[in-house]
Amino acid sequence: MTLDADVAAQTARRRTFAVISHPDAGKSTLTEALALHAHAIAEAGAVHGKGSRRGVVSDWLDMEQARGISITSAALQFTVDDVVLNLLDTPGHADFSEDTYRVLAAVDCAVMLLDAAKGLEPQTLKLFEACRVRGTPVITVINKWDRPGQEPLALLDEIEERLGIVPTPVNWPVGIAGDFRGVIDPTTGGMTQFTRTPGGATLAGRESIDADEAARRHGPDWTQAVEEFELLTSSGQSHDQDTFLAARTTPVLFAAAVLNFGVAELLDAVTTMAPPPGPWTDVEGRPRPVDGPFSGFVFKVQTGMDRAHRDRLAFMRVCSGRFERGSVLTHAASGRPFQTKYAQSVFGRERETIDEAYPGDVVGLVNAQSLNVGDTLYAEDKVTFPPLPRFAPEHFAVVRPRDTGRSKQFRRGIQMLDQEGVVQVLVSDRRGAQSPVLAAVGPMQFEVATHRLEHEFNAQSVLEPLGYAEARRTTRAAVPTIDAKHGAEVLERTDGTLVALFSDRWRMGTIAADLPEGSLLPLFGTE
Ligand code: G4P
Repeated sequence: MTLDADVAAQTARRRTFAVISHPDAGKSTLTEALALHAHAIAEAGAVHGKGSRRGVVSDWLDMEQARGISITSAALQFTVDDVVLNLLDTPGHADFSEDTYRVLAAVDCAVMLLDAAKGLEPQTLKLFEACRVRGTPVITVINKWDRPGQEPLALLDEIEERLGIVPTPVNWPVGIAGDFRGVIDPTTGGMTQFTRTPGGATLAGRESIDADEAARRHGPDWTQAVEEFELLTSSGQSHDQDTFLAARTTPVLFAAAVLNFGVAELLDAVTTMAPPPGPWTDVEGRPRPVDGPFSGFVFKVQTGMDRAHRDRLAFMRVCSGRFERGSVLTHAASGRPFQTKYAQSVFGRERETIDEAYPGDVVGLVNAQSLNVGDTLYAEDKVTFPPLPRFAPEHFAVVRPRDTGRSKQFRRGIQMLDQEGVVQVLVSDRRGAQSPVLAAVGPMQFEVATHRLEHEFNAQSVLEPLGYAEARRTTRAAVPTIDAKHGAEVLERTDGTLVALFSDRWRMGTIAADLPEGSLLPLFGTE
């Protein structure tokens, strides 16, 4: 097979996706269950450590270990029916950060996981919005159906009304939330009945039965499920691949991840519906064909993951061509060569050397001192992919060196954190270079920043939160007007964006009235 044909065939086999959810909806549990089904691990519990289970994810930073949470992201690869799935892990904590968003810039599809009792929650809405902006197709899973929850039709209405996307059920639960018997299998018109296994640590029992048998065993529950499902499909709410790929509809499945119910169905949906990697568009709007020469971009940089080495690891998504370990690529930002001798697949503490990778795969590049978030690497034909969108920060704090004798280390540290995208750094002449403003999507980014300033740059710092709640992009002409007001100021981000901060929405409204139209623009995804 020629190289191009090999790359095209391997690309067609790949599905690269992430799970988006509000904390506690069951993302870790679902990840384990997916990996279990894919036989990537022998027994559920080996992926994310919970309680006494063995965990392999992220005790990379001391802070993470102390809190028992996952701040960093990783990628898990497994094969199902000859389809290679790349599941990119997003941080699951409530104080989520820009990392979560950046992972979404590297996937071709998202699985939106909802808790059957809670429906859409604040973080689900934010992450869905990030998918919507990018036009990423979304598959919805309603989880925890083994527990009392809402009516399935009410959940679907909520999705349609609040997200503006039409839910199209792929299966339908038999039994109300809290009494999960199985799902209607629309391909046969019968039912897949689930049975529990002890502790949910092994695959759930699945039995396919026809409609008559389902009616005999489940009586009114079966009848109700069939009626509800028919109501939806007859009103046009059935899966359509084109509208799903256009992100206008979302296939919906029901599951109880902790019991492994509905997980095989989800794997089937991801392998058959999620799109394979397509051409990635460069800064000039030209698509780079997947079977062209190699290219990839860095969507995440992590420092200090391996305590023994304090190394710097860059996660790169392959966009085109075949990645071969040992090849020399070009770093688009500097034009310098980049050696790929140390390429790894990384999931939690587990690292394996990667020898080759294809579009959609994630490669961890070790000792990637020169690589920053958003950077492009390529072979042969030059290409630069657009910078990753930066997101509207909601938390702001002035940071200063605790010891002015260490200003140099402090400044170097701030510059590094900015380049790595750990926090956004805003400066102004008024505040001066010694007291930049850090801006974050979630407050935990501040903790990571001050921790790293202290431990990596030997520069302790003092944080002083600022009482701003609104941020907008503004124009140079508007700066004097805004700076003259109380409860507002303009700072410059290192990418040149002018960011206007306001104490609250009301204050912003009154100041906006004194500005020409178009002076305040949204910050979200505006590069
Ligand atoms: P997250 O990563 O989205 O934050 O959620 P995680 O998987 O940690 O799940 C949050 C809690 O919800 C866990 O319970 C988990 O067992 C439970 N859970 C996940 N999926 C299901 C489900 O389908 N049904 C039911 N009933 N529960 C589910 P926990 O008490 O916090 O932890 P654990 O000690 O049970 O592991």
